[in-house]
Amino acid sequence: MKLVTAIIKPFKLDEVREALNALDVNGMTATEVKGYGRQKGHSEIYRGAEYLVAFLPKVKIDVVVAAERSKEVAETIMRVARTGHIGDGKIFVCPIERVLRIRTGETDADAL
Ligand SMILES: Nc1ncnc2c1ncn2[C@@H]1O[C@H](COP(=O)(O)OP(=O)(O)OP(=O)(O)O)[C@@H](O)[C@H]1O
Ligand SMILES: [Mg+2]
Repeated sequence: MKLVTAIIKPFKLDEVREALNALDVNGMTATEVKGYGRQKGHSEIYRGAEYLVAFLPKVKIDVVVAAERSKEVAETIMRVARTGHIGDGKIFVCPIERVLRIRTGETDADAL
């Protein structure tokens, strides 16, 4: 199993959710977050000039899926969340050791 974490532009959340739904992903968590990337939250960088880091609102999506589906999930998020402009976001993929479904006691892939 893999955890696919995507930091995306907030207005892309609905479209990403619909695309993941169409892939039969069973669940996801979305969190409002603040972050910055290479431009440190600014749309232009003036070389040598002093500037402050600005946190911008983003949405973080966490999806845990069977390992063999993680590529498809990450590529779908990338395709749907891309505008081609700076700040489109990042996707991180990590291994997941164990999943427990609280109501039923099912574990791992059965619990997803
Ligand atoms: N190295 C990182 N570690 C953790 N979070 C990051 C990292 N880089 C970016 N993020 C998160 O992703 C969000 C979007 O990053 P962003 O798309 O601006 O990355 P970038 O590398 O600057 O790419 P681009 O040049 O396309 O803007 C950030 O606001 C932050 O929340
Ligand atoms: Mg950036």
